[in-house]
Amino acid sequence: MNKKFILLFVFTIFALIFTSCREVTDQPAPPVVFEPTPATTEMVMAGAAPVVEVVIVGNAASGEEWFQNQGCNACHSTGAEKLVGPGQAGVYARAATRAGYSSADDYLEASIRYPGEYLVEGYSNLMPASWEEAENQEIADIIEYLKTLQ
Ligand code: HEC
Repeated sequence: MNKKFILLFVFTIFALIFTSCREVTDQPAPPVVFEPTPATTEMVMAGAAPVVEVVIVGNAASGEEWFQNQGCNACHSTGAEKLVGPGQAGVYARAATRAGYSSADDYLEASIRYPGEYLVEGYSNLMPASWEEAENQEIADIIEYLKTLQ
């Protein structure tokens, strides 16, 4: 026998011993089962939640400036006095009583954006519809200002 053959023989013996003695200890991993909780299912059904919720907070001082810059004061006094339009004193409390609107804020926004939609008794449709495209921030500010007029 030549050396090469002996080496190959020894190697084969070792290989056999090694493979036959090696115990297989790894159990197959249990299958991953996805069981959504009811909450997860609801969230999936509701769609993705908005990442950032933008809350617009009105500023009365900016609202007062806007009221003057836009010329609202040409037709509206900030007291009870009637000019072309009704005096704005107590307008916020009044706004909450207007039929057909969900809230005082809702009514005020509509009466600025769409003045012809609800006419205050005793007045005609003289308020220009110039603010239909007003920024939401401007509306929030003016509402905050109108609240201060008691
Ligand atoms: C050319 C005059 C005129 C201008 C300018 C004007 N308004 Fe008026 N406004 C009126 C008249 C007239 C009414 C009453 C008729 C009606 O309801 O539209 C009125 C009604 C309103 C009401 C409802 C009041 C209530 O008692 O229910 C609000 C609020 C109001 N205006 C806000 C504003 C604001 C804010 C501005 C400025 C951005 C403005 N108005 C500019 C004439 C005007």
